[in-house]
Amino acid sequence: MDATAINGSGPARSAASITLEDVGKTYPDGTVAVGDFSLEVHAGELTVLIGPSGCGKSTILRMINRLIEPTHGRIVIDGQDILKRNPVELRRHIGYVIQNVGLFPHQNIRTNVGTVPRLLGWDKKRINERADELLELVGLDPARFAKRYPHELSGGQRQRIGVARALAADPLVLLMDEPFSAVDPIARGRLQEEFLRLQATVRKTIVLVTHDIDEAVRLGDRIAVLAEGGRLLQYAPPAELLSKPDSTAVGDFVGADRGIRRLAVTPLRQAMTPPTAIMAGRPTVDAEGTLYDALAAMLASDAAEVVVVEDGKTVGVVTRTSVFEVPEAEATV
Ligand SMILES: Nc1ncnc2c1ncn2[C@@H]1O[C@H](COP(=O)(O)OP(=O)(O)OP(=O)(O)O)[C@@H](O)[C@H]1O
Ligand SMILES: [Mg+2]
Repeated sequence: MDATAINGSGPARSAASITLEDVGKTYPDGTVAVGDFSLEVHAGELTVLIGPSGCGKSTILRMINRLIEPTHGRIVIDGQDILKRNPVELRRHIGYVIQNVGLFPHQNIRTNVGTVPRLLGWDKKRINERADELLELVGLDPARFAKRYPHELSGGQRQRIGVARALAADPLVLLMDEPFSAVDPIARGRLQEEFLRLQATVRKTIVLVTHDIDEAVRLGDRIAVLAEGGRLLQYAPPAELLSKPDSTAVGDFVGADRGIRRLAVTPLRQAMTPPTAIMAGRPTVDAEGTLYDALAAMLASDAAEVVVVEDGKTVGVVTRTSVFEVPEAEATV
């Protein structure tokens, strides 16, 4: 294994796998926050930890960057046992976004974003260039925002700065603890969408904690559903979790309206039929969309079908009934 990989001095890397093996945390007062937790987080994927309050999500996340020391177990990032590393050094290579963002109030945005590069000893010019590049990446014009202070930003903008700061030193891993929960539902939806676009570019290995199953389904490549004491109930891609919850507890957790949520993770191609003769005036959706997108487009224009386009060409049609006829992905068990 490349011993320099998470020192940042090795070859440029964009993502790393994370393995948790029988990891646990018992606090001195005897509270077993996490009993015995194992999980394989794939490189370049976004894995969501979801579960009820107090079940150990934040504890697991904070053990990955050693803000909390595990009582037992092994945590391996990119082949290296991180418990053998200097924790302060380690944290400089792991981005961390927390719920209330934790920006430094007396530093301007550019300085906030440059925090970790500064700790890593980058020169000033490089730090500022990197900060501005990151501001653009999260959709905030550096000319307008770099010199502002955190209190001069909206909650959603601060949230984006939190993400920019976590990405600044190009970490291998990004840990996010309820990163979008402090903003109102509309801003949250927009942030989630932007974040997905960002992730499509940067392809980090991300572990994200949330309470919100919709957020989990929307953002996650895989979702780990936890119960009290960090017990792992199920670990699966969203579509599988929704269509095949493997216990009543998971079924209850993903909720009664999972049928609708399932649409949001099923490619619309599964309901697509070849184009027909009359297409003019029909709403269109992109071929990369989901059944939910197709249904939403139909509902918005009171149409019974949508035209599917790819690279500007019509490639098929989806009807309202066909949306509901897509079988629950191998949901027979
Ligand atoms: N320092 C501590 N000493 C004792 N118990 C603690 C300590 N810190 C956390 N705990 C307990 O560990 C358990 C797990 O806490 P954790 O913060 O990981 O939960 P969580 O799943 O993130 O919850 P939430 O969704 O409410 O943020 C809780 O029961 C909590 O009370
Ligand atoms: Mg928490």
